[in-house]
Amino acid sequence: MITIKKAVFPVAGLGTRFLPATKAVAKEMLTIVDKPLIQYAAEEAEKAGIDTLIFVVGRTKNSIIDHFDKAYELESELALRNKDELLKIVQDTVPTGVSCVFVRQPEALGLGHAVLCAEAIVGNEPFAVILPDDLIDNEGDNCIQQMIAVYDKYKASVIGTQTIDISESDKYGMVAGPKIEERLSMVDEIIEKPAPAEAPSDQAIVGRYILTPAIFDILKTTVRGAGGEIQLTDGIAALRKREEVYAYSFEGKRYDCGSKIGYLEATVDFALKHEELADEFRQFLKQFNV
Ligand code: UTP
Repeated sequence: MITIKKAVFPVAGLGTRFLPATKAVAKEMLTIVDKPLIQYAAEEAEKAGIDTLIFVVGRTKNSIIDHFDKAYELESELALRNKDELLKIVQDTVPTGVSCVFVRQPEALGLGHAVLCAEAIVGNEPFAVILPDDLIDNEGDNCIQQMIAVYDKYKASVIGTQTIDISESDKYGMVAGPKIEERLSMVDEIIEKPAPAEAPSDQAIVGRYILTPAIFDILKTTVRGAGGEIQLTDGIAALRKREEVYAYSFEGKRYDCGSKIGYLEATVDFALKHEELADEFRQFLKQFNV
């Protein structure tokens, strides 16, 4: 039985690191080669057996809603021209058997607040949170599949983590706690964007979570934290006082596509693996003796 049926995609952030690209275009619609970030995230959830995709959107994010809607005119035009392969690509963006639900976050008050906006749709069940700008590539089970397996074993919230250079701790939520098994620790300490001297370990939170619904009541009273935002990390710190929370160091390579350098790295790596482009792109790269 699949225990986690719903995934929340908080996509209402302002994307300031990508301005001016993100003035009118959603950061999550930026493409890695030929697919928008949001579609990689949706495919990760679908592959994990999730059947309800909940997008928490902001004002400039209508293209995300359109992306997961039927493109009636485009589809009829492609059908008319017998462009069957392209038609399939367009149709496949809207997964069969999966519902897409859209909720507005009226103001970008923070990731914790964005997750709270999904409460009425999630209801009283555990759920996944996927931040599409953290693109995670793995040959085997994807990140959220791995985390659902941990949830199934321990029936508690699970945070996705990776090891970082501690000098970068002020960009991440950071966690620490005793090791339980390979890749898995308890969360004893959790803090948002600490200075390197205050970081409890070198384990950083990456944009994947499995959360129990107890988080919602906590988020209702979570006050603004780092950056003046209602932080999910602060909510999880309070959750940790009520229930066990686990940190899982997932298998896979993570690209921080919310940053320009991470975005470029993902673009090059994915192009070098792309069925149609890999050979030609590899040839092109040979001229750069860098
Ligand atoms: P980020 O920290 O990447 O912020 O948010 P951002 O606004 O998207 O981008 P920058 O830092 O200004 O460049 C992490 C995730 O939380 C979502 C974002 O959309 C992103 O997926 N988020 C953040 C919200 O949905 N609402 C918010 O109020 C804040």
